[in-house]
Amino acid sequence: MKDSFGRNVHSMRISVTDRCNMRCDYCVSGGKLQLRPEHELLSLSEIETVIRAAGELGFDSFRFTGGEPLVRDGIPELIERVGALPGVRKLSLSTNGSLLARHVDRLAAAGVKALNISLDSLVPERFRQITRGGSLARVLEGIRAALRRECFTVKLNAVIMRGVNDDELAPLAALTLEQPVTVRFIEYMPFGAWRAPQDRPDPTVSSHEMLERLEREFDIERNVSGPVGEGPAQYVQVRGGQGFVGLISPVYQPFCERCNRIRLTSDGYIKSCLLQDERFALRDWMRGPDYSFPELRRRIAEAVLLKPREHSHARSMDMSTVGG
Ligand code: 5AD
Repeated sequence: MKDSFGRNVHSMRISVTDRCNMRCDYCVSGGKLQLRPEHELLSLSEIETVIRAAGELGFDSFRFTGGEPLVRDGIPELIERVGALPGVRKLSLSTNGSLLARHVDRLAAAGVKALNISLDSLVPERFRQITRGGSLARVLEGIRAALRRECFTVKLNAVIMRGVNDDELAPLAALTLEQPVTVRFIEYMPFGAWRAPQDRPDPTVSSHEMLERLEREFDIERNVSGPVGEGPAQYVQVRGGQGFVGLISPVYQPFCERCNRIRLTSDGYIKSCLLQDERFALRDWMRGPDYSFPELRRRIAEAVLLKPREHSHARSMDMSTVGG
């Protein structure tokens, strides 16, 4: 459906849980996930109901995220049910990859077409530090399992942080030489309670600087059309490579005018903009006597209509609550 600025908003990101088996620095301030009690999370059938209402409003693309979506039981089954709804065109999953190897077959059967996997470092010890305990080997195993199934478009997402992993632009981009995989570099967004120490340089590396640095290492072809997708990345290619390199610039070149999505948080709020604090509460109302499906549809439509033109920065939330 069209929002009040004429954008066609047709994609929904659904955080199915706030639980995660990693604690990435940029996502979880202070390394402590503020977990909600289970009953504050939407049940899978409540999530499905919200998706059905969105589908009736013309939403046709649904991305499942977390937390880590695969730590919740029943997610492939949920996705499969969503895929059977009329008008659903695209199902995708954002994951840290650690549980992927054991789930790829079910996800393929459920009709997932696109997998976004976080991969912030190729150095095991550093990976462990950034994710506070994550195993690079398991994630790489998940990525290999996904690439073996040719039904997925696989995108690897790296949040680049100065002084942390910005020396890995080249090795990460080089992954596209050997594999039909897209590697996307994301400008680090300063969020929540976590702040870089004042005496350190700004941790955000602009996508412009990233591209310049890549051009020093590789023969880069600019302005390629990139893999199928409707997201905010600008794509380039390492010449001769099989995959693409994407640059995502939420900080230096916000892509609000092309934004086509809203979000459903794991605790049952609609957020019409990632970086806005306004939220439309659904959960308690859905559980109460006043709930009706037509009214649910109306509330989602209202969130779309109130979607702000652009985002401002400085937010109190952590990314772990909305899944990126
Ligand atoms: N800055 C930029 N991207 C982030 N993500 C999470 N937190 C941040 C942040 N502070 C993105 C990462 C992660 C996805 C779930 O959300 O790409 O892989």
